[in-house]
Amino acid sequence: MNKFTFPTATILIVDDNQNNLKVLCEAIADYGWEILVANDGESAIEQAEYAHPDLILLDIMMPGIDGFDTCVHLKSNPETCEIPIIFMTALSDTIDKVKGLSIGGVDYVTKPFHTEEVLARINVHLQLRSLNKQLEEQKLDLEKRVAARTNELSKALHELQQSQLQLVQSEKMSTLGQLVASVAHEINNPVGFITGNLSHLADYTYKIINHLQIYRRNYLEPIAEITQDAKEICLDELIKEIPDVISSMEVGIDRISNISISLRNFSRSDTSNKVEFDIHQGIDSTLMILKPRLKASKKHPEIEVIKQYGDLPLVNCYPGQLNQVFMNIISNAIDALEESVAFLERHQRNQAILTISIVTKIDDENYVSISIKDNGLGMDAEIQRRIFDQFFTTKSIGKGTGLGLSISRQIAEKHEGIISCVSNLGQGTEFTIKIPI
Ligand SMILES: Nc1ncnc2c1ncn2[C@@H]1O[C@H](COP(=O)(O)OP(=O)(O)OP(=O)(O)O)[C@@H](O)[C@H]1O
Ligand SMILES: [Mg+2]
Repeated sequence: MNKFTFPTATILIVDDNQNNLKVLCEAIADYGWEILVANDGESAIEQAEYAHPDLILLDIMMPGIDGFDTCVHLKSNPETCEIPIIFMTALSDTIDKVKGLSIGGVDYVTKPFHTEEVLARINVHLQLRSLNKQLEEQKLDLEKRVAARTNELSKALHELQQSQLQLVQSEKMSTLGQLVASVAHEINNPVGFITGNLSHLADYTYKIINHLQIYRRNYLEPIAEITQDAKEICLDELIKEIPDVISSMEVGIDRISNISISLRNFSRSDTSNKVEFDIHQGIDSTLMILKPRLKASKKHPEIEVIKQYGDLPLVNCYPGQLNQVFMNIISNAIDALEESVAFLERHQRNQAILTISIVTKIDDENYVSISIKDNGLGMDAEIQRRIFDQFFTTKSIGKGTGLGLSISRQIAEKHEGIISCVSNLGQGTEFTIKIPI
């Protein structure tokens, strides 16, 4: 037998009989194993927990707790349950052997010992133990690798979901852009007809009125039918009202064409190159699109927009994307104001006038800075820390996807700019976007 098979194995021998201990120790002394001894069950348990032997040779008949109870105890402790136990019995009693095996023993040897047999059995079980250990290590390693791979996969899945949602979001924006562009285009032609003809109409009307006045001055007494009709149609009032009618039509058509210009500006999202862009035009057209949400409604009284525009140069940028940033931030401000109205109503407190202030200026000479501030409820520090995280939202499902600000930050970064937020609970929130000129 190769006595150096297990140079590092430790064997615990438990027996109350000193003579038996001596015989066994001598028998296996030459095999390079470390040998521990215990004289009773209690100290065997103690040593097993402390020294973690690779094998235990356990006597059955001992004063105090016997070998069976010691075995049960060792098997119930996760620290020691894996250690193989070989019972030693003086009797060749089958009942004892069966009991020993059924409570977790792996083998038995009978006294008086047959040295070769004891060594062979020890060797077999040490080998099994070592293989088991290897197997256990491989299992752990495999589990670790599976966990790492699962982790990688779920990360990839998460990224996939994120990019999908981003696609949906940008698709939404570009659909909105296309819709707005086509509406603007459709409005444009009829507005052109009206604007072009309105000035002729005014010109012709004033000429006809003038002509009529010449008649009246030169034919002081017209026939009865003419006098009668002038009276019925209230001719003098009509003539007086005509300039008002025409100028109100001019104002109206002017407004429609401004709307159409704003819509067209807003929809300039398709440009794949940077272009020189008037930031104020971008903000104004975004406000135009959001106008229905700013007006008084069931959810809130009118939201006042206070603009304080500085003297800005044109900025080289992707206009559609910057508009998207303005859209996200102003929409969030409107949401916050709506929430504050609902909150104050619930607590029966008065609401100050709802405002969104927009200030633009040149900052540090190299940046245009646009700040958008609302007087809503603001956010606490914990929420503020997370607002730029993808999918972070405090809004109900269906209302918020939690993408607006993370996309806005990406856009700002794409422009080598910065977006930041200052918010005070109960006072409001201010977002500032800085874009290099
Ligand atoms: N002006 C603001 N006042 C208070 N909280 C705000 C304000 N702007 C953003 N937040 C907070 O930041 C969160 C994230 O905003 P973000 O725009 O990224 O997502 P969202 O508005 O919830 O959803 P969506 O994807 O539809 O924009 C909001 O849910 C809200 O809690
Ligand atoms: Mg949002």
